[in-house]
Amino acid sequence: MSPSSGGQAGATGPPAPTPEALAFRESLGGVFPDHVAIIMDGNGRWAQERGWVRVRGHKEGTESVREITTIAAELGCKSLTLYAFSRENWKRPDFEVSTLMRLLRLYLRRELRTLMDNGIRLVAIGRLSDLPEYAQRALRETMEKTAGNTGMVLRLALSYGGRTEVADALRAFSEEVAAGRRRPDEVNEETLRDYLYDPGTADPDLIIRTAGEMRLSNFLLWQASYAEFYVTEDCWPDFRRPQFEAALRAFAARKRKFGALPADADEPAGLEGLDDVLEGAPEHSEGGS
Ligand code: FPP
Repeated sequence: MSPSSGGQAGATGPPAPTPEALAFRESLGGVFPDHVAIIMDGNGRWAQERGWVRVRGHKEGTESVREITTIAAELGCKSLTLYAFSRENWKRPDFEVSTLMRLLRLYLRRELRTLMDNGIRLVAIGRLSDLPEYAQRALRETMEKTAGNTGMVLRLALSYGGRTEVADALRAFSEEVAAGRRRPDEVNEETLRDYLYDPGTADPDLIIRTAGEMRLSNFLLWQASYAEFYVTEDCWPDFRRPQFEAALRAFAARKRKFGALPADADEPAGLEGLDDVLEGAPEHSEGGS
């Protein structure tokens, strides 16, 4: 299933920014992530800490999904990617998996109004054919209904794995080679990107992980290369406006260099220490080892 595109009757644009949203953005000095991606972790712990069944945490997590999606759109994010179900999550007990799938369908039905009101276009990435037919149908319908919206893109990663995404891209490329439409020497970072699940969406600027773990868990492995990483101890059901704003403030305070040096990093002439740097190293000669 690929994201649909094209105009739709009743399509909407992004919401007009509220004075509060404008003031918040201004307080960040204009440094704002176009694309935020979130690893929504800690639903189970959140419920268990309260003596409740784990799936109650997933249900409360859908409230955070609604709140963060709405705020991101209102603040002018271009894309929000949510890690809703990994390929590894299929290993969970059947009851938890089926509850998550049913919550997904419930969310899509209930939140269509929110998506339309905020001009949000829904896209799903992952091995979507793994999902039960009813969940695929709900996704298809919501993607079709929101296809013409011109505001933020909400991407749900479902049955998603970063390694699987790269493997799927390589397989698709190889099939093109076998059919004579591509040559092996055309493989490079730009051409391979075209075979990822949603090549039209730029890489995430900020990846947030809730519930304290310091790992990527197979999320957006290709796209994460220069994302800023932010981890909070809060579990996903507790991740609401104040926590999201704290993450955005932390992002605004980072210095992103993409492997280069900042423009103001020129060293004044005459600094000491150069002579020692290569002391003892053999003279360089072309072709030498
Ligand atoms: C991780 O928490 C969370 C998930 C595996 C699922 C996330 C799903 C939702 C937030 C709700 C449904 C999503 C949508 C988009 C409607 P965990 O269960 O691994 O938490 P734990 O580490 O505390 O066990």
